[in-house]
Amino acid sequence: MTPRFAVFGHPVAHSRSPQIHAVFAAQAGITMRYERIDAAPAAFADAVHAFGHAGGRGANVTLPHKPAAMGLCEALSPRALRAGAVNTLVRMPGDAPRWQGDNTDGIGLVRDLVDRHGLVLRGARVLLLGAGGAGAGVAPALLDAGVDTLAVFNRTVQRAHELAAHLGDARISVIDAERVDAMHAHESRRTTSGAHHRLDDFAFDLVVNATSAARSDQAPWSAFDLVLAKARVAVDLGYGDAARPFLEFARERGVARRIDGLGMLVEQAAESFRLWHGVMPDTAPAFATLRAELGDPP
Ligand code: ATR
Repeated sequence: MTPRFAVFGHPVAHSRSPQIHAVFAAQAGITMRYERIDAAPAAFADAVHAFGHAGGRGANVTLPHKPAAMGLCEALSPRALRAGAVNTLVRMPGDAPRWQGDNTDGIGLVRDLVDRHGLVLRGARVLLLGAGGAGAGVAPALLDAGVDTLAVFNRTVQRAHELAAHLGDARISVIDAERVDAMHAHESRRTTSGAHHRLDDFAFDLVVNATSAARSDQAPWSAFDLVLAKARVAVDLGYGDAARPFLEFARERGVARRIDGLGMLVEQAAESFRLWHGVMPDTAPAFATLRAELGDPP
């Protein structure tokens, strides 16, 4: 019987994962089936259960199921625990389906930035916009990559504090409204409210957009125009149209290097593939194909 793999999401029709895994499997000479399974949140647990009983060997999990997937797992990797979400299910040995949950999103981002784009994350000062599922998913890997500072901004500041408390790392700081005000005051040399902040507090090498805000008129990054004007690199975790508003904003602010989430998508898939099949694929061909289909980011 051909081994079965799948991606669970809602919606999931747009998912590129079947295409990526087909390229990897052909490369490795592995025969498998990889399908999309659309499950509404209320039906997700049953869908995974049915997939397991039908012989499913592994799965990717995408929005909105990544946090819920944690609850279906018999065991969780340290990466999944720190991310607070599971994007990869690996079947555990035994007849009954039991799953080990992992999270390959963070390592996928870091590999894309370091190996594909040649960025140096060690010692980098990083501003993370968004402390939702996507932000929480990549924050641990950025810390593991040796960043000097991880400043987190979230529209709902409480969520940023929760992320910082969960990760418990002294390199994390939360940017609240007061700090944003101080930043602008500092820039316009009205230092009354910002006097206790150093200029360095507002200088970042890398700004990562992990919010799901797509419209740029009320976008969370508009408050960071001054920061972006000094940043070397802007990264959006999305790709295609989703990445456009933030990267266009960054381009207008003069950010020389703008990177979308396509490479991260391919790299997280590769790490999932490695967990299932024990082979690390060469990601270049799948990336090149998708890049040609989707076009360059702004
Ligand atoms: P995901 O898994 O895509 O991260 P999520 O957990 O719902 O989804 O998180 C969405 C993120 O985008 C959050 O950081 C959210 O901010 P809040 O926590 O304040 O809701 C952010 N976001 C979405 N729309 C936004 C907007 N219009 N302005 C600012 N932030 C926005």
